[in-house]
Amino acid sequence: MAHPLYLTTPLYYVNDTPHIGHAYTTLAADILCRYHRLWGTEVYFLTGIDEHGQKVEKAAKAQGKDPQAHCDDMSLNFVNIWNELNIAYDVFYRTSDPAHHRVVQEALSQLHARELIYKQSYEGWYAESEEIFYAEKDLVDGKSPSGSEVKKVSETNYFFKMSAFQARLIAHIEAHPDYIQPKSKKNEVLGFLKRPLQDLCISRPKARLAWGIEIPFDRDYVTYVWFDALLNYAAAVGLFDTQREDTLAKWWPHAVHLIGKDILTTHAVYWSTMLMALEQPLPKTIFAHGWWLTSDNEKMSKSKGSVVKPLDMKDTVGVEGLRYFLTRDIRFGSDAQFSAELVINRVNTDLANNLGNLLNRSTGLVEKYFAGACPAFLATSLEMDDQLNQAVRTLPARVKKHIEQLEPSEAAEIIFETLSICNQYVDHHAPWTLAKENLPAAGHVLRQVLECLLICGHLLQPILPQKMAALLARLGQMEPIAFDLLAASYPHLKEGQRIEKGDALFPRLEAAS
Ligand code: MSP
Repeated sequence: MAHPLYLTTPLYYVNDTPHIGHAYTTLAADILCRYHRLWGTEVYFLTGIDEHGQKVEKAAKAQGKDPQAHCDDMSLNFVNIWNELNIAYDVFYRTSDPAHHRVVQEALSQLHARELIYKQSYEGWYAESEEIFYAEKDLVDGKSPSGSEVKKVSETNYFFKMSAFQARLIAHIEAHPDYIQPKSKKNEVLGFLKRPLQDLCISRPKARLAWGIEIPFDRDYVTYVWFDALLNYAAAVGLFDTQREDTLAKWWPHAVHLIGKDILTTHAVYWSTMLMALEQPLPKTIFAHGWWLTSDNEKMSKSKGSVVKPLDMKDTVGVEGLRYFLTRDIRFGSDAQFSAELVINRVNTDLANNLGNLLNRSTGLVEKYFAGACPAFLATSLEMDDQLNQAVRTLPARVKKHIEQLEPSEAAEIIFETLSICNQYVDHHAPWTLAKENLPAAGHVLRQVLECLLICGHLLQPILPQKMAALLARLGQMEPIAFDLLAASYPHLKEGQRIEKGDALFPRLEAAS
């Protein structure tokens, strides 16, 4: 029996308006989870929001609202967009939940009891937009390493002895090659760990910030947001809950955290050492994906005024067009450009031309020459049959392998390569002409195409759930075929069964103006 999968996205800052960065991680997670469910893996998919901190407190105050009420309102921005993008998550985690507060306070109490937390006066540079303190030496041109404004803060705070875990963390990363992925990011973290690791400031005086989780051993302080938020991943599956020990044991060893590369240190270093200090096992993998860039190769961000609202492109290419683009046009782990033109080109080339035309051409010809009844195979094979059959019958296993290696773009690519082979097969045999000379041979060609579409339609469901449900319905396939049978029980259609012609599944779009 395959092991389960616990997949998480970051908890997004509740104050933000959801943008392409949030949508990307969440969509990637959704698509990976849907693939795993397809072959029967038990999946738990967590997303949610990070609600504490100075930015949220300030925004609430500016609107004359209580922070909790502000968060409740803002959380709907995320819930709504995930609904629109058809994200099938299992849990929407909120750090303002009292159950979360209990776990964070328990973690703090344990570390305090183990003398892994101490109090000290401190002076540092604070980047409010990142909620991170920097030492003077870390600043680049008077700003944070990622370019945020910083201001000098001096105060007494609590510190977590993160430095005590440096050697163990290096050893863990080196002994578990899959812990930090992709490999380039693992090397980056090991590079960072060559310098002495500082201890981590984990409190904020209430006098400066009240909207947070109170430090259990000092009521004048609240918990630093990152220390608070990172605990969600384990809290969601039962950390420190004696009633849920089985749940934790079931999911935690299979936890995979998907994050953007800008929050790699907080996960690879803060979170890993926190777990070590709490004497808890580490998750299986932390995978840092790349960024969507503007056409000037800059990270898309609100501060640069370039954030494309996922909704905007959804209105042009449809939810599923956008889901496809975001899967196909970026190697998971690398950067890629995002523009309306690129989205439209990709949707036209792959969905309208390659897949859509193949479906329209084949179902149209079945309608015209076979009155909509699924034609029979010939007893002998035709030219290119072997090439097409080989591609189609090996496809499910190849797709599965790519998904297991966290390569959704490659999975999409090989499905569309198979559809291209199928288009070449149709062009080679020209069934529209063949039908007039040798109807059974034309029927064989069309049957090959329909069987290929059936397999590809199944394998594309995680990316294009609604469109593929429509495609499969046209092929008379209302019930899903068990994944293992896709190749093993090929072919799947029955001679004479009804094949629907229908409208274009992906209408061609006008080029971006
Ligand atoms: N609250 C923290 C995470 C805490 S996890 C315990 C946080 N939130 S965030 O709202 O800023 O997260 C934004 C996410 O979007 C990050 O994973 C970031 O990498 C991602 N992106 C933001 N802009 C992006 C692009 N232009 N492209 C791809 N993803 C990028 O950090």
